[in-house]
Amino acid sequence: MTAKIINGTEIAAKKRIEIAEEVQKLKSSGVTPGLAVILVGNNHASRTYVKNKQKACNELGMHSVLIELPESISESELLFKIEELNGDQSIHGILVQLPIPKHIDEKIVIESISPLKDVDGFHPINIGRMMTGQDAFLPCTPFGIMVLLEETGIPVAGKHVVVVGRSNIVGKPAGQLFLNQHATVTYCHSRTSDLKAHTTQADILVSAVGIANFINAEHIKEGAVVIDVGMNRNNAGKLCGDVAFDEVSMKAGFITPVPKGVGPMTITMLMYNTLKSAKNTLQS
Ligand code: GUN
Repeated sequence: MTAKIINGTEIAAKKRIEIAEEVQKLKSSGVTPGLAVILVGNNHASRTYVKNKQKACNELGMHSVLIELPESISESELLFKIEELNGDQSIHGILVQLPIPKHIDEKIVIESISPLKDVDGFHPINIGRMMTGQDAFLPCTPFGIMVLLEETGIPVAGKHVVVVGRSNIVGKPAGQLFLNQHATVTYCHSRTSDLKAHTTQADILVSAVGIANFINAEHIKEGAVVIDVGMNRNNAGKLCGDVAFDEVSMKAGFITPVPKGVGPMTITMLMYNTLKSAKNTLQS
């Protein structure tokens, strides 16, 4: 079997058109969705991600603010800035780009963002709401995975989903979203013994490990759906995922490439969440 490619760029573009249309409608009601991104220090990769988030905001007609703070900033100064944004009516989403410097407690920072403006979906209140099936801001990468499957017409209910990776940002919430949609979910991670025994049972395999070529054809059931969340560099410095694409795509039914798979969906869902937050202000 040769896998069908799930084209994240195409699906993201379709979703962004829908979001841009809704932004225009909201603007005519007098509300322009606004996103504030806080970048602490000078991490090169973070700077690129933040620029892409701002660019997406501009393209979709949203207001965006970038707050750049020095590496040496104290935790209380950062919390003060977040408190200011919590009370700013022109801002509907607040995102602190991670990682932040080690002298600042990430948990305290995330919990200081108003859950009503937590468009990353990282606040424990939003995570708890997601776990209990209530309305919540969903973490953007797992949310993007669910949209990719929905748009591709791949059913989830009753399927066996194996998630490899258990980060708070991707692995854990991805499994929860599949469970919410009635899948049977297995989590695997660095201490799982006999990984292949689990992954070969997967109807849908999600890999969010961060190691190039971690998943090969021997890990896959014939015809499985393979979602690659990895963003790695191979020996030649080229961007690649966790999955050995050439061999796995000969065995899988569907596969997301890297780049142009899950990646473009993450920022798209951030835009979706910011729009959702702005819409919420009309209802309250
Ligand atoms: N760093 C890497 N990914 C993310 C993300 O999705 N949100 C934030 N805030 N920081 C990140």
